[in-house]
Amino acid sequence: MKLHNKVAIVTGGSRGIGAAIAREFASQGAKVVVNYLNSQEKADAVVAEIIEQGGLAVAVQADVSQLSGIDLLVKRACEAFGGVDILVNNAGWATLERLQDITFDDTKKQFELNVFGPIFLTQKISAIMASGSVIINISSIAAKGGAGGSIYCATKAALNTLTKCYAAELGEKGIRVNAIAPGAVETDLYIEAGLVKREAEIIGQTPLKRLGQPCDIASLALFLASQDSSWITGEVIQISGGRFMS
Ligand SMILES: NC(=O)c1ccc[n+]([C@@H]2O[C@H](COP(=O)([O-])OP(=O)(O)OC[C@H]3O[C@@H](n4cnc5c(N)ncnc54)[C@H](OP(=O)(O)O)[C@@H]3O)[C@@H](O)[C@H]2O)c1
Repeated sequence: MKLHNKVAIVTGGSRGIGAAIAREFASQGAKVVVNYLNSQEKADAVVAEIIEQGGLAVAVQADVSQLSGIDLLVKRACEAFGGVDILVNNAGWATLERLQDITFDDTKKQFELNVFGPIFLTQKISAIMASGSVIINISSIAAKGGAGGSIYCATKAALNTLTKCYAAELGEKGIRVNAIAPGAVETDLYIEAGLVKREAEIIGQTPLKRLGQPCDIASLALFLASQDSSWITGEVIQISGGRFMS
């Protein structure tokens, strides 16, 4: 078991990529805090599935785009499992508007969730993490920019830079910080962002000729959370079926 007895918080663990990471970590012995905002039934289902398989997990409702939610999540995680060894900053939201359609409120919401949340969760949790702990930020290949979705792209570019800054700051405490930058992964966000209508084009541009699945990202998250990657920090690892290459 690669994560035996480790405590992991997965933000946005109720659906999509976060739920797959929660399941993968639990299957490797981690005790998992499944954070969610609205989808209580889905978060409870992830927790029930983990417990059914003999693992340990709790669902915690907390808005990680707000300091009050961040404080609550850390408090509940510590009450449930006594500390935190792995933080996955996964919760995220995307709108893919072009410049003239951008609104202030959607811009604020994306920065609060995709950037402020990871900053202040990392601040709070790294203060209580022991040496050997790990932080994983779920970024996106959108960080490279493109036509449309400038705000989402900018939030993920910020997250990539924060990943490197915090890897540099926290390395002396023995805390590793890395980011995963997925290409298109079949989740609710993919559908809500309107990517379905571009599916044929996306698959056509992808050497491995398929969309990503949440479990593809979860396998990489497990590698980055485990000792298998013990000398890797400050990296942004792209995973896109070859659609984007470094
Ligand atoms: N799907 C893709 O193609 C793709 C590609 C690249 C990167 N990513 C990134 O991967 C991450 C996960 O995306 P996904 O596709 O799995 O998204 P998703 O299916 O839309 O799931 C989003 C998750 O975030 C949670 N969440 C939203 N706002 C929250 C808040 N304020 N506080 C706490 N939790 C909140 C949701 O909770 P509720 O269920 O309670 O609403 C849900 O669990 C995001 O950071 C996204 O930017 C996705």
